[in-house]
Amino acid sequence: MDIVTNDGDARRALQAELARFHCRVHQSDDPPLFTREPRPTMRSVHWRWRDLAPLLDRLGREVDLGAGGPRRTLRLQNPGLAEGTTHTFWCSIQVILPGEVATCHRHSASALRFIMKGNGAWTTVDGEHYAMNEGDLVLTPAGSWHDHVHRGSEPMVWLDVLDISLMRLLQATFFEPYAHDVQPVDRVPDRSWRQHGSGLMAPPRAAPGPYANPLLAYPQASAQAALDAAAGLPPDPHDDVVLAYRNPATGGPPMTTMGQQLQRIRAGFQGRRRRHTGSKVYYVLRGRGVSTVGDERYDWEAGDFFAVAPWAWHAHQGLEDALLFQVNDQPALQALGYYREELE
Ligand SMILES: [Fe+2]
Repeated sequence: MDIVTNDGDARRALQAELARFHCRVHQSDDPPLFTREPRPTMRSVHWRWRDLAPLLDRLGREVDLGAGGPRRTLRLQNPGLAEGTTHTFWCSIQVILPGEVATCHRHSASALRFIMKGNGAWTTVDGEHYAMNEGDLVLTPAGSWHDHVHRGSEPMVWLDVLDISLMRLLQATFFEPYAHDVQPVDRVPDRSWRQHGSGLMAPPRAAPGPYANPLLAYPQASAQAALDAAAGLPPDPHDDVVLAYRNPATGGPPMTTMGQQLQRIRAGFQGRRRRHTGSKVYYVLRGRGVSTVGDERYDWEAGDFFAVAPWAWHAHQGLEDALLFQVNDQPALQALGYYREELE
């Protein structure tokens, strides 16, 4: 015991000297460096559409669409974190009104959009023009110029997800506004989709493009057709019918840092529990169900979001035929060797 006390005194004394040289030794009252299991500060959260909908209406009425960077967005803020929806990525609900332009810029954060409501807005990513429709997944790869123009007649709402917290942790932030409100548009719209969208075939001499994934958009109709086909497979014991979006060039995830899935949970399905490192956020497109996450129970319905914290046991139950979109940070964890999963 004396040894510990003496050692503690010696360590404190040493520390006073070491600090001058920007060095440090472990102190006996330091929190443990390693824990047996992850102890996330991020919390699992449920956001209900009945709370979000009036907030979005108010946002549309009261907040201007700022030029040169800011967008009109409602951020899903995790109560366990200073910033962000999870500790790696941010989810925001963006509202764009008819005639509005979200001006052109580029940044080192990777971004995706999932269209929640409405039609008629066009996005341009590095010159490629794409008409966004409800249920589409549209990517904005890190470093790509992007702007959005709403040519429809009703407000449009989509989910924006950016790997901002991971980018900031890695201290790799760049941002650049474009010289004009919008960028020039290629003559051929949806070029990447026309070339690589089937996932089965591609022009043999299609230019590879600057990004690891040659595909920028995953239209709703194709995703739904794939999910309908997968419904004929034996159900996944944890997730019922689930498909991960893929990079057609590699078979891997569409982005290096974030994965996306589309999941159907049929009425009466009772999934087994699982837990894993990494975080994820679900968006409920339709239907109703219950998810148990850690000690909490989320009774979710269309329009709701919920986040699952790292290493939290969770399981899903279907009450009405349900469709969910999911974003996770699994690709980043797998690339770094930190992904771990336990299945019940
Ligand atoms: Fe952006």
